[in-house]
Amino acid sequence: MRTDWCAILAVVVAAVAVRANHYHPELKFNNKATPNNAAEQTPDYWRNEAKEGIEKRLRRLQNNNIARNVIMFLGDGLSVPTLAAARILKGQRANRTGEETEMFFESFPTVGLSKTYCLDAQIADSACTATAYLTGVKNNYGTTGVTGAVKRYDCEASTDPSTHLDSIAAWALAEGKDAGIVTTTRITHASPSGAYARIADRDWENDGKVIDKKFDPKVCPDIAYQLIHTEPGKQFKVILGGGRREFLPENFTDEEGSNGLRRDNRNLIEEWAADKAAQNVIHRYVWNRSQLMSLRDNPPEYILGLFESSHMHYHMERNRQTEPTLAELTEVAINSLRRNEKGFFLFVESGRIDHAHHDNYVQLSLDETLEFDIAIKKAVEMLGEEDTLMVVTADHSHVMAFNGYSVRGHDILGAAEEYGHDNIPFQTISYTNGPGYRKPVNNTRVDVTTEENYKDLRWMTHAEVYRDDETHAGDDVAVFATGPYHHLFTGLYEQSQIPMIMAYAACIGPGLHACSSAVLNHPLSLPIYIIIFLYIVPRYML
Ligand SMILES: *[C@@H]1O[C@H](CO)[C@@H](O)[C@H](O)[C@H]1NC(C)=O
Ligand SMILES: *[C@@H]1O[C@H](CO)[C@@H](O)[C@H](O)[C@H]1NC(C)=O
Ligand SMILES: *[C@@H]1O[C@H](CO)[C@@H](O)[C@H](O)[C@H]1NC(C)=O
Ligand SMILES: *[C@@H]1O[C@H](CO)[C@@H](O)[C@H](O)[C@H]1NC(C)=O
Ligand SMILES: [Zn+2]
Repeated sequence: MRTDWCAILAVVVAAVAVRANHYHPELKFNNKATPNNAAEQTPDYWRNEAKEGIEKRLRRLQNNNIARNVIMFLGDGLSVPTLAAARILKGQRANRTGEETEMFFESFPTVGLSKTYCLDAQIADSACTATAYLTGVKNNYGTTGVTGAVKRYDCEASTDPSTHLDSIAAWALAEGKDAGIVTTTRITHASPSGAYARIADRDWENDGKVIDKKFDPKVCPDIAYQLIHTEPGKQFKVILGGGRREFLPENFTDEEGSNGLRRDNRNLIEEWAADKAAQNVIHRYVWNRSQLMSLRDNPPEYILGLFESSHMHYHMERNRQTEPTLAELTEVAINSLRRNEKGFFLFVESGRIDHAHHDNYVQLSLDETLEFDIAIKKAVEMLGEEDTLMVVTADHSHVMAFNGYSVRGHDILGAAEEYGHDNIPFQTISYTNGPGYRKPVNNTRVDVTTEENYKDLRWMTHAEVYRDDETHAGDDVAVFATGPYHHLFTGLYEQSQIPMIMAYAACIGPGLHACSSAVLNHPLSLPIYIIIFLYIVPRYML
């Protein structure tokens, strides 16, 4: 007995001793891990770095111009840990340590946080969030462009016009601005549909999907139909993305050999062209990159580009001849829309950051994020920040974790330097759940670094809980802004405030407007009112 107790005591003492350094183990330096920059070892380096940061902020003037143009850049699933990991990958691709690197949009003057929950969901999907950040109203999970009075799949409730919401694209059109949408997903997918659709289920992208749920597409028209035949989609000058199959009949084979999905035998691409021809406006449908690039500098008044049957491919896997990059799509969209003197609203989505996360494909997700950054840089180079408000944000987070105790400059796509306390490596980036789960072998966690396809593009990093599809997460997402009234995006707020702030800066839509309050708040306005009431009113009215 006594010896047993001694043994237990010895184990406990040993465990406590081990735990003394448990929380912050030593870094395992190796020769790769030389400091980024010898200057960083001096206090001056950091004091100067901070001084420049402060001076940059002090030099910044408030931009109280009215926003002629508004561009919303949406990184689907672009969580805050994804930002950190992507900027490190950017730096490491340039042979730097990476942590000190900045993505272009991370230099925007204002950063805030947005709360992404939806009316009936703690953790959101891309449909209810699109409704929040494009119409300014939170609604139910899986629904787009309809109020919280419509539950998912409730076709009948969604036919009541009082449930229909207008997006900031419609607000812009109502003021004579132009509007457009660009995405790397199907153009009928949840995020872009927030700009034009009112639908009780995000999956009703073609009429067959409505019929499958035993509803009548004449009562609840599908998303592709709404884009081509209803307001405001009918008026969009620019529609660029993937998703041809949602617009084409089942027995119709598209340019790249895929069949459509429509059961109503309608070819909505032809109907789009016929509608524009009837209005006698110059229009063009394109399906590949060379066609798009030939129109780059002088796009037709209306352009519809559908570059894949379903989603566009990941940037690192795309066919360079047929698929444009997000930056190229953005450039064509801006060249089209900037011709309107009254300005425009443009929605640009990098939609597949989310898809790669769902499959635990870390490298693809981070690369999509860097492509998104290049598109944003292109837009700022083309338009400047004087009268164009640019907002960069995400719809919701993901369960990607960035963890361990690796040294500075350690491969962001590799294993952490510390092992698990089971003496088996783990990846710096892993997920709480997803298809990357590995069953323990012989009761032991799998060493993923020994796998044959380790770190290939489609190698899945490991996950704690098995799901064939990794889930979204409920933490806040960042909002970056530059241009008119960017400073209003500071703080922590409901996601549904985002379009209202954009609309405020542009003086469009149903909420507060900078134009009217600018008059009210002008320092001369009180004396002017006094003159009006004391002098002009009695003289002419009484
Ligand atoms: C990074 O270093 C490698 C190996 O020295 C070199 O091949 C590559 O061109 C470098 N890349 C950049 C962006 O400098
Ligand atoms: C597809 O089917 C419809 C209805 O049966 C028919 O009218 C049409 O000609 C067919 N189209 C093709 C390309 O076979
Ligand atoms: C792009 O489309 C045009 C028109 O259909 C076609 O002539 C051309 O060969 C296509 N280019 C590629 C690279 O597929
Ligand atoms: C599991 O353990 C058994 C017995 O030690 C061993 O023969 C077998 O090779 C192990 N399997 C794997 C996959 O390591
Ligand atoms: Zn998702």
